[in-house]
Amino acid sequence: MTDKNLLAVDNMHTYLGDSHIIQGVSFAVPRGKVVALLGRNGAGKTTTLRSIMRLVPPRSGTISLDGHSTEGLRTYELARRGLAFVQETRAIFPSLSVEENLAIAERKAANGGGWTLERIFNDFPALAERRNNGGTQLSGGEQQMLAIARALIANPQMLILDEPSEGLAPLIVRQIADLLNKLKSEGMTMLLVEQNFALATEVADDVVVLGKGRVRWTGTSTELRAADDIRHTWLGV
Ligand SMILES: Nc1ncnc2c1ncn2[C@@H]1O[C@H](COP(=O)(O)OP(=O)(O)OP(=O)(O)O)[C@@H](O)[C@H]1O
Ligand SMILES: [Mg+2]
Repeated sequence: MTDKNLLAVDNMHTYLGDSHIIQGVSFAVPRGKVVALLGRNGAGKTTTLRSIMRLVPPRSGTISLDGHSTEGLRTYELARRGLAFVQETRAIFPSLSVEENLAIAERKAANGGGWTLERIFNDFPALAERRNNGGTQLSGGEQQMLAIARALIANPQMLILDEPSEGLAPLIVRQIADLLNKLKSEGMTMLLVEQNFALATEVADDVVVLGKGRVRWTGTSTELRAADDIRHTWLGV
């Protein structure tokens, strides 16, 4: 049996040291949908993602992947079960070439097909041109593209992205938006943390607004654009 929600977070509480950072957060990411997690600086967005990936295991609450609790699993086991996390730092291996960065992350799709090195280089021509360059020789935009490509080549069920547009020039942000829209049209499930409101609401079906460690609002992107009070109070836009 497959669950409608690929990911479900229920009443999650997370502490960093003694600080109660995530205070009972609940939301779901339906299969094939894109959910944006928005909020001001310090709202708890990154901590929520890191809790889902069990890099900072939550103290209580339930996180389900495909209807099964992830309790007790290690981060690498979640990756094996199809969660791909593109961290803010991008975490490119600097001493490896673009091709090597991709090759070590490659995992064949269960049903054949899916993402391969060939398909990545076909769909990301900028990476193909730089396939022999080292990770540190890439521009910020190329590094972000490589980080996303490296997540894709593991053929995940779901992409979790922490601020993919951060620090990038408008032209590159547009390329990231186009890429995310294309992945969405191909049916990729995504959980997207963004400070770029326009990008987030363009790509996302649903939005979860986080403020001071709690969910303050949930609805569709269209509803959020019209919800002036929520945007002003919790997002400052
Ligand atoms: N090691 C820590 N110990 C205690 N508090 C921390 C620690 N690391 C982060 N925090 C606090 O946790 C809160 C949530 O941080 P988090 O990084 O999840 O926010 P965010 O929404 O991702 O913010 P940003 O938009 O700046 O990326 C912040 O108030 C931050 O100051
Ligand atoms: Mg963050």
